[in-house]
Amino acid sequence: MVKVVYWSGTGNTESMANMLAEGIKGAGNDAALFNVSDIDKDTLLEDAVFALGCPSMGNEELEEGEMEPFVESLESELSGKKVALFGSYGWGSGEWMQTWSERMTNAGAEVIGTVISENLFKKGAFSFIKNYTFKYKLKIENIFKIFK
Ligand SMILES: Cc1cc2nc3c(=O)[nH]c(=O)nc-3n(C[C@H](O)[C@H](O)[C@H](O)COP(=O)(O)O)c2cc1C
Repeated sequence: MVKVVYWSGTGNTESMANMLAEGIKGAGNDAALFNVSDIDKDTLLEDAVFALGCPSMGNEELEEGEMEPFVESLESELSGKKVALFGSYGWGSGEWMQTWSERMTNAGAEVIGTVISENLFKKGAFSFIKNYTFKYKLKIENIFKIFK
């Protein structure tokens, strides 16, 4: 069971989360989607591998009301965890994801993949699939089959 936890304001990151869950299921694994407001950190930390999604908000930051405090609450307990990060952005260069990824690594997690999508144009959806680096851990390469 791979938990996919996300925050999304206008639905783009939620769509990515849905694609990811479909891909995980398509690869023969079980996946569960959670809005970040519907899961607590202890439930998430039961697992060794999980995915977190959040768009670029503020000024290249995580969403401050729910996702930022959730990520902060995880930080002291990430040692040995494998984490994939994804999210949508608008006009920036993806800096928020770079910062987020470094932050998780510094907290002791192994970041097994990061995927960003410029809003949710087809281009973005495609690069989401194309760049997905879960494959060695979750056989996520099979997600390609869904989008053929
Ligand atoms: C308050 C706010 C701040 C944002 N800040 C950034 C930003 O710093 N950099 C960026 O590239 N996009 C920024 N965006 C654009 C969003 O990341 C983009 O619209 C994204 O697709 C939203 O994803 P969602 O549909 O999952 O909420 C911002 C959007 C809002 C509403």
